[in-house]
Amino acid sequence: MSESRGTWSAPGRVNLIGDHTDYNGGFALPFALPLRTTVTATRRDDRTVVARSGGHAAIEFEVPGTPGEVTGWGAYVAGAAWALAEAGVDVPGADLEIASEVPLGAGLSSSHSLECSVALALTGLAGVELDPTELAKIVQRAENEYAGSPTGLLDQMTILHSRARHLSFFDARALTVEPVACDPAASGLELLVIDSNAPHQLVDGAYASRRHACEAAARRLGVETLREVEDVDAALVALADDPETQRRARHVLTENHRVLDAVALVRGGRLAEIGPLLTASHVSMRDDFENTVPAVDLIVETAIEGGALGARMTGGGFGGAVIALVPVVRRVAVERAVTTAALGAGLTAPSYLPVVPSPGAGRDA
Ligand code: GLA
Repeated sequence: MSESRGTWSAPGRVNLIGDHTDYNGGFALPFALPLRTTVTATRRDDRTVVARSGGHAAIEFEVPGTPGEVTGWGAYVAGAAWALAEAGVDVPGADLEIASEVPLGAGLSSSHSLECSVALALTGLAGVELDPTELAKIVQRAENEYAGSPTGLLDQMTILHSRARHLSFFDARALTVEPVACDPAASGLELLVIDSNAPHQLVDGAYASRRHACEAAARRLGVETLREVEDVDAALVALADDPETQRRARHVLTENHRVLDAVALVRGGRLAEIGPLLTASHVSMRDDFENTVPAVDLIVETAIEGGALGARMTGGGFGGAVIALVPVVRRVAVERAVTTAALGAGLTAPSYLPVVPSPGAGRDA
């Protein structure tokens, strides 16, 4: 039944391990953040959507709309409406009041949390309930074809499937999310997001170029995606004449194994032991995928020197945030070490956010 008014919200996400694996059919282990984007939606009698969010200028468009019509932050709202209409949803006109707690540009998926919350609000008003994986694919179209970012399904699947107190083990080939129970506090640990506050550089172009390199590697190896590679060593030998492509592929191929190792450890109640996997993942991104930046490398190094068990950049990269696994008793020392190093290097002071695996998107009221 269609609704006249309601409130829906969707979290940001942080990826504990497994980046740039999703569009290669691989594995990742993200979870939903306690920070959310909330949309209060009121149905209108016409086909106009009017969206307001904090300090931004209001946006207005007619559904279904056309990609390119709305730009800036509004493209995520208009993109969600357009993609739903493309999927056959009778999208109503609506007034949307949007408030987000997810930091922008930190690699914590603020844009997907906006798209998912708007998509839920509009389907809710339309009286349509979609399977979360179907909705994730629709939101991916909004992101790829309306907002123009060639991203995978990691973020939407995490946002729409996550559960409180669980990591979300994502298999991008099977398109499944398995909840993995995770209670860091029970082991005296904390998951600490450290936002570098460093500006992102060339994000879309650089992301696309990494994606193309992975696709080129798969073509050379005669497989559909890098996920199909069974013998990693042989694949790397086969790519040896093109060292850059070989490095990009090595990150993805080794990252898939690190995710599986991390899942096995967390399932076995050995969260503390995933630290070296997190750090190895960062080194792989820094040296092979080359999607880190010096500010983020410095945070990872100094967090570990300060007592973190492991740390890595999270998300698409080229700036953004780090996720560190930290014994509760070391948290103050880690924060002090990182701030001192960042300020000493002339960088912006980082921000710190201890996080727990939180619920996915849904209806609030
Ligand atoms: C961004 C994209 C995801 C994924 C990550 C890297 O967050 O939206 O699809 O590719 O980067 O793991």
